[in-house]
Amino acid sequence: MAAGIDDMSIYIPKLYVDTEDFAEARDVDIDKMRKGLGIYQMAIVDNNQDPACLAANAAYKIMKRNDIQPKDVGRLYISTESSFDESKAMNAYVVGMLEQVYGPDTFEHCGGVETKFACVSGSYALYDNLNWIRAGEADSQYALVVVSDIAKYDLGSSGEMTQGAGAVAMLLNDEPRLLTFDRKVTATSISDEYDFYRPFGKDTPIVHGQYSNLLYLMQVRKALELYKTKVISTGLIKPSPDESILDYIDYLNMHLPYSAMGRKALAYLLRHEWRNLPRWGPMIEKIGMAEPIAKTPGTIETILANPDFIKDDSKFNRLLMETDEFNDMYEEKLSSSLIASKMIGNLYTASLYLGFRSSLEYEHKKGIDLAGKRIGFGSYGSGSSAMVFSGVITEEYLDIVSHMELESDIANRRRLTLEEYEMLHRGLMPADESLLSGKDEFILTDVDKSNSERRYAFNS
Ligand code: CAA
Repeated sequence: MAAGIDDMSIYIPKLYVDTEDFAEARDVDIDKMRKGLGIYQMAIVDNNQDPACLAANAAYKIMKRNDIQPKDVGRLYISTESSFDESKAMNAYVVGMLEQVYGPDTFEHCGGVETKFACVSGSYALYDNLNWIRAGEADSQYALVVVSDIAKYDLGSSGEMTQGAGAVAMLLNDEPRLLTFDRKVTATSISDEYDFYRPFGKDTPIVHGQYSNLLYLMQVRKALELYKTKVISTGLIKPSPDESILDYIDYLNMHLPYSAMGRKALAYLLRHEWRNLPRWGPMIEKIGMAEPIAKTPGTIETILANPDFIKDDSKFNRLLMETDEFNDMYEEKLSSSLIASKMIGNLYTASLYLGFRSSLEYEHKKGIDLAGKRIGFGSYGSGSSAMVFSGVITEEYLDIVSHMELESDIANRRRLTLEEYEMLHRGLMPADESLLSGKDEFILTDVDKSNSERRYAFNS
């Protein structure tokens, strides 16, 4: 049975910090943020919002647009790494909010959990729900998977310039109008790591930035190797000896903690994919230096302990990224997926899917017919695990993609002053105040000081 994404919606908070203000306040070179990391604006949540509100707003949007009633939804999963409760799952909060609009107990039948594995958990939730549909359990109902996060780092830390917030809701079924996932090729990689983690009680993560960057690349590459074995053994893709698997992926979507990470990941994957192909010799000539090879064993520890290798390796990557071959591939397969991230920032679990939506919208706007195009996904979650999988755009995709309009989704945003941003970040605003009213949205109205119970309302 086929299974895939029927429609998707996004919800982005209406406050943002501009890198111009941020770079000046933190005395960071703005070129580092804009050219080095690819960040122009970072979405920030208001005082009356939490990740459950963001998720409920994205879910409500998709249900309203498709005229879907609660009885049509069999499973509601929320994936997040911004959880505020160690026991009560975020989908329960979201059900509570949606029932304020659709009526009491209207979601009573609807199963689901909150899933956690840093930024990759949304991909696991997607996979599990696709298999629920493929197993014939859905009985004509949809699965609704919502990825929702607030990427918040310590003030003054190097991670602070890679913040953001938002949610993406994905409606899954067996007759998807947007994308059908390829079966039996989903590949995973996992290891016990401390690159980025958030112990109980902390509201910001502990981050080893460069370690996390390298781990992301190595982990996604391992998953890609397994994906390759699977697509070849299932016969889904039949590359000849002088071809790479990436030649058969029309568009690539990578996890985007910041937009430039997508470009770095493409260079890393291409390099490993092309290394043993006839095209590599002419590439090395163009690059003009031999490829640095890590001493064995090429583990993350031996690589990070060798600054000379890292220096040579960055130089090689930089030269590789200047070649026409790399830039053609970048423009053709990846660049459109980075546009939204530049304007919104890191959405943790939702970053990959915001990138997918961005790619669809901006490739469609170029006038390209997307039907039949194969989309590759490279998902990464710290701690750490990667997932690589793929799908094909359906013939009906225009019904969905022609409505996508990022500019209107993030219209009328308010640019925060650094003072306002820091006040929100430190939680200094009185609980009953917010900068915006949150009209036509779910908002957090109260957190009871005595028992931490949260109250929400739809602010019509
Ligand atoms: N002009 C142009 N480019 C400049 C520049 C300038 N003036 N100054 C610096 N740059 C470039 C650098 O050369 C570098 O480019 P390369 O990556 O191509 O080498 C880039 O800007 C960033 O500079 P640094 O590496 O020196 O930046 P940093 O070490 O201060 O911080 C960071 C970068 C490690 C990503 C940090 O922001 C961080 O810790 N972020 C949070 C963790 C994170 O996002 N990790 C990503 C992988 S883990 C993950 O993906 C899970 C998740 O969602 C968090």
